[in-house]
Amino acid sequence: MQADTQGRLRSARPLFIQAPPELAAALEDYRRVLHTAHPLKTKHGAGLPADVKRLSLALTAERGPGPQANYLSNPANLSAYLYYFLPWNIYRVSRLLHGLALDLPEGSSVLDLGCGPLTLAQALWIARPQLRTRRLRFVCLDQTGSVMRAGKALFEALAGEAGQAWSIELVQGPLHKAPQGPFQLVAALNALNELAGGRGEEGRDALDRVAEALTGRLAADGRLLLVEPGTRLGGGLLARLREALMEEGLYPQAPCTHDAPCPMLAPRWRSWCHFTFPAEGIPAWLARLSDYADLEKDRVSLAFLLMSGDQPEYKDANSRVVSHRFALPGGQGIYACAEDGIRLMTFVQPPRGLLSGALVEAELPESPMRDPKTGAWVCPLDAAAPGEAKGQQPPEAPGGLAREAADQQPKGQTGDRKPHGAGVPGRPPRSGRPAPGKSGPAKTGPANAGYGKGGPAKSGPAKAGARRAGPGGPKGSKGPRGK
Ligand SMILES: C[S@@+](CC[C@H](N)C(=O)[O-])C[C@H]1O[C@@H](n2cnc3c(N)ncnc32)[C@H](O)[C@@H]1O
Repeated sequence: MQADTQGRLRSARPLFIQAPPELAAALEDYRRVLHTAHPLKTKHGAGLPADVKRLSLALTAERGPGPQANYLSNPANLSAYLYYFLPWNIYRVSRLLHGLALDLPEGSSVLDLGCGPLTLAQALWIARPQLRTRRLRFVCLDQTGSVMRAGKALFEALAGEAGQAWSIELVQGPLHKAPQGPFQLVAALNALNELAGGRGEEGRDALDRVAEALTGRLAADGRLLLVEPGTRLGGGLLARLREALMEEGLYPQAPCTHDAPCPMLAPRWRSWCHFTFPAEGIPAWLARLSDYADLEKDRVSLAFLLMSGDQPEYKDANSRVVSHRFALPGGQGIYACAEDGIRLMTFVQPPRGLLSGALVEAELPESPMRDPKTGAWVCPLDAAAPGEAKGQQPPEAPGGLAREAADQQPKGQTGDRKPHGAGVPGRPPRSGRPAPGKSGPAKTGPANAGYGKGGPAKSGPAKAGARRAGPGGPKGSKGPRGK
């Protein structure tokens, strides 16, 4: 292969670093917490696996009305949620919080919308032990009082006396009843499609209303954390909400490495932004219940979005791995999302750390080609890449968010950002537009033909449905918040 057709991997930093033993220990102990704060009535204990399965179907259906209003006020649903969905959500969110190394200064206020059984507060307690002695205020909002009260009892059983450093206020009601704040962290976990009142078909108005409600409550230095299941419904909703949030003046901090339109929103792109990782460290009691409920749990997935009013210095070389590795003739590949669209990175031996969710820094080939099947920019990594990646780049350690922030430094600190639209000859242009003299995105082509399972697209990234345009900020943007 000629040198100008090869890329060069500089680093690949996993986001989902190995599950820490403390998380496994906390979840092992969580059965005690559940039995202490919410002992099961005999009839609910016997019917638990069937209740879990039924609720799972209601929560994950792509179409239809979704679960009934106030579904968690039903005692069988509540028990199923607490014993199954809650510990799995604590696990998924803890893995993410660990990788992002989310920090909250002393005295911070947190708003958790659609809080359910206080999943966020419990995950923060488990995943970020350094926060336990800080004075933090949580305002938790949900339409259902009983699930919040159960969550508060669970938090008390989990944290004991030490938990008194955190004040927890429960607000029962819909989204617009949330106090104004400002809050250093505004979060919504696994609740957005319910809060937006739809099932993947939320109109632009509903998303705009949610975006306004979220950003309107953020402190100037605040962060917004949204986590959804890694389903098409969850990933698609976040990608569309991202556009609305950018119009409110927020910038993606993670997982996106850019603020261009999401390439995965292109109509012909079949996949959606989400991440998967092995479910290591799950306690036997939870694995058993999952088994009885016939819900396979070797891997977990999630979609997420971390945004704030700080404009990062997005680097052209950065991308985020949005698939798992898949077989290709003569090697393997992964898809990564970058400002210029989706990149197909190919290699013979998998470079260390090149996993779903990893933040990748790689030089593209001088004259990149598009994959005719998918339209992705092809980036064959040179033979030396695996060794280099191994030697130079350990998996992302705690402090990942700081690392990510360093990767995307505030404007003016690195000065190497090119203005939007300034295409470089031989480089893919921004927003997936074909480069002059290059072939455009493939118009047709079977999904991942010849590439095995797991790739995102049937056809390449067409131009994303951009509402934003031009350098410097979103069209109609209200500008950086409070800056
Ligand atoms: C799937 S649960 C997620 C709970 C929790 N955040 C978690 O991750 O485990 C969704 C929550 O959103 C709440 N919810 C749904 N629609 C709501 C609305 N319109 N206003 C307030 N809460 C709502 C439900 O009562 C439920 O507790």
